[in-house]
Amino acid sequence: MMIRIEGVNKIFNEGRVQAFEALKSIDLEIAKGETIILSGVSGSGKSTLLSLIAALDKPSSGKIVVEGELISKLPDLHASAYRAKSIGFIFQHFNLLESLSVEENVIAPLINSGLDMVDIKAKAEKSMKMAAIEHKASQQVKALSGGEKQRCAIARALVHEPELIICDEPTANLDRENSLKFIEILRSLYALKKTIIVATHDPLFETLSFPVRLVHMEDGKIVSSEQ
Ligand SMILES: Nc1ncnc2c1ncn2[C@@H]1O[C@H](COP(=O)(O)OP(=O)(O)O)[C@@H](O)[C@H]1O
Ligand SMILES: [Mg+2]
Repeated sequence: MMIRIEGVNKIFNEGRVQAFEALKSIDLEIAKGETIILSGVSGSGKSTLLSLIAALDKPSSGKIVVEGELISKLPDLHASAYRAKSIGFIFQHFNLLESLSVEENVIAPLINSGLDMVDIKAKAEKSMKMAAIEHKASQQVKALSGGEKQRCAIARALVHEPELIICDEPTANLDRENSLKFIEILRSLYALKKTIIVATHDPLFETLSFPVRLVHMEDGKIVSSEQ
């Protein structure tokens, strides 16, 4: 089992009048190579759950184990090392450095990796190919279209070859054509046996051409999980 989430609760502002229970008794197991589509209306707790799996935040109670490691208890330094090694993030906002080229953005996560530049460039090229953006490698990000920016962000998220790919509303800023291209890239990641979690309320994800598990959230709870 790649990810085991057991009895996880998340309360924001715990102990205060504004206390808010964003996640309630979450149990979920995700196998290696599985694709999870996490659906639910805005405010149902999707991003909160992703942030706990990525060790960006900690549950109020319960535990999260990823590849045998208890990540719900990781000290901050170990949490950032875990993210740098194991996780590729793809967000609605691309968080790219606009004045740098596509390639410069893609290699950024590897600059302090200890790899030499030849290896870094080879990894960047592979990743840009995967994300169908290698033809724009030397172009400044600010001159890209929205869809191209998203593909640059994908290349950057994949450059360290993470086992777990976490996407939060990845198509929210894309038109239909670019959303379909994004889904094609996901399918190739699925074929590489990556574990993928996509939080989305985009109906395009309801009918995919590869097997996924639909996990639906309402009001901080998982209300259904089906293949
Ligand atoms: N840092 C925070 N402090 C207080 N409440 C928060 C915080 N982060 C999220 N929430 C609340 O938790 C609920 C779930 O948010 P979120 O996980 O972002 O939902 P989703 O991604 O499904 O839209 C929302 O009501 C949100 O306002
Ligand atoms: Mg969200």
